[in-house]
Amino acid sequence: MPDVETLGRILEQRGQSQLLRFYDQLDQAAQVSLLEQIAAIDWENVDDLIHRYVLDRRQVALPASIDPPEIVPARPEDDEQKKRLQEARQRGRELLVEGKVAAFTVAGGQGTRLGYEGPKGCLEATPVAHKPLFQVFAEQIMAASRRAGKTVPWYIMTSSVNDVPTRAFFRRHKFFGLDEKDVFFLVQGTMPVFSLDGKLLLSKPGELAVSPDGHGGSLLALRNSGALDDMRDRGIDFISYFQVDNPLVRCVDPLFLGLHALQDAQMSAKAVPKRDPMEKLGNFCLDDGKVTVIEYSDLPDELAEATTDDGHLKFSAGSIAIHILSRSFVEKLTVEGKCDLPYHRAIKKVPCVNESGKTVKPDKPNAVKLEMFIFDAMPLADRCVILETDRSEEFSPIKNAAGDDSLMTSLHDQVRRAAEWLEAAGVTIPRDADGQVAAALEISPLYADSAEELAGKVDPDMTIASGQSVYLGSRGQTGGLR
Ligand code: UD1
Repeated sequence: MPDVETLGRILEQRGQSQLLRFYDQLDQAAQVSLLEQIAAIDWENVDDLIHRYVLDRRQVALPASIDPPEIVPARPEDDEQKKRLQEARQRGRELLVEGKVAAFTVAGGQGTRLGYEGPKGCLEATPVAHKPLFQVFAEQIMAASRRAGKTVPWYIMTSSVNDVPTRAFFRRHKFFGLDEKDVFFLVQGTMPVFSLDGKLLLSKPGELAVSPDGHGGSLLALRNSGALDDMRDRGIDFISYFQVDNPLVRCVDPLFLGLHALQDAQMSAKAVPKRDPMEKLGNFCLDDGKVTVIEYSDLPDELAEATTDDGHLKFSAGSIAIHILSRSFVEKLTVEGKCDLPYHRAIKKVPCVNESGKTVKPDKPNAVKLEMFIFDAMPLADRCVILETDRSEEFSPIKNAAGDDSLMTSLHDQVRRAAEWLEAAGVTIPRDADGQVAAALEISPLYADSAEELAGKVDPDMTIASGQSVYLGSRGQTGGLR
């Protein structure tokens, strides 16, 4: 590692000498640690990022003209589509039986909007058994593995902020019954945090302020952690990517997998029709023949509100952040340990040291954080499939402490979906005068993870009383009627 004089010169040339301002006051271990942090920075790259994303505050340039992309409809509109979807579902099942599929959860976010202390995946998120989000996914993955007779390994991306508590949580819960060797944690990278005038900030006198590099950082993290090698060794070709915040997600969906594989796609995505033009979802667009996602905050209102001749939203397909990535595509994008996704800037309040070396919480935004977004990999793919899905079946995220997309709305949607599945199986569900389900219902993925599977198992004559809590779990699981 270069000595303090050499690093001091590098910092001076780049106008970043403030990083060594408290160096002489640190003990020896802290001095070494600070020098290591400074030496680890790719300064050429950082200078470039400061100019492009911190000092240059221009809005992200939108493509000159965008069109709506082709979407595979959720429900087949004719026999040909029906046949295509059937074939795809069959192909997806085969891929699972062949052991070619891994699940991948990005769980490195800080969950600031939710205000939950700790990793979001530990949040108790189901209506009867109060299972943490991680358990909901674990049970689905276990059910998919059992059905296929082949393990679906699970890769979980954490960040330096929540890696230790996430792993401890899994250990404490004995990996929710999964085999520990089939659960692989990887820590995403970090980015320095900058002042508004492009200086790197210190969070403590001997510590650089850093933040997770965004879910787009997952591509490099898969490579740098050895997860891609592990996948190759296991014969995994397809990565089923999802966020930690959505308990309705289908962690591995044969239909989606099969469509992706039959199209020889490199990256695919699921979409739902937006509830309203301003819904906070990324928008699927076509830019010069390439599928692109434009974040809700970047899409001008007139485009968000544009309609087609028949009165539908022109850009109606919202991203629910569920993707299939071909392993070979991730390998290609991260070759030589570099990944060429653009950064997005967020101006935030970040605690940092003041002139006298004390860490202070700012009362107004003082810092620029840079993140990569996974969907920026879509235009880099030669072929993509966008599959529309039913929101009520697959999407009810927990993002906010109250209101839309909160724990309350998600619990409500989980109960509603369970009621719909039970009703489809012939069970009578108590409903109130407004038609709302009047019982708390939860179906473990180990009991059934689709309406079709439930129909073959549940007794249609089971009675559910108004106000009752009902949990359908697998044998040996706690639950039953409560
Ligand atoms: C995200 C998408 C949006 C999509 C919506 C669907 C972005 C910028 N927007 O919005 O297009 O319509 O979800 O629900 O992503 N994460 C990491 N590391 C990070 C940052 C985030 O692992 O550095 C993970 C989080 O743990 C979470 C997911 O990425 O699982 C989403 O992050 P979040 O910042 O909450 O995205 P949203 O704004 O909700």
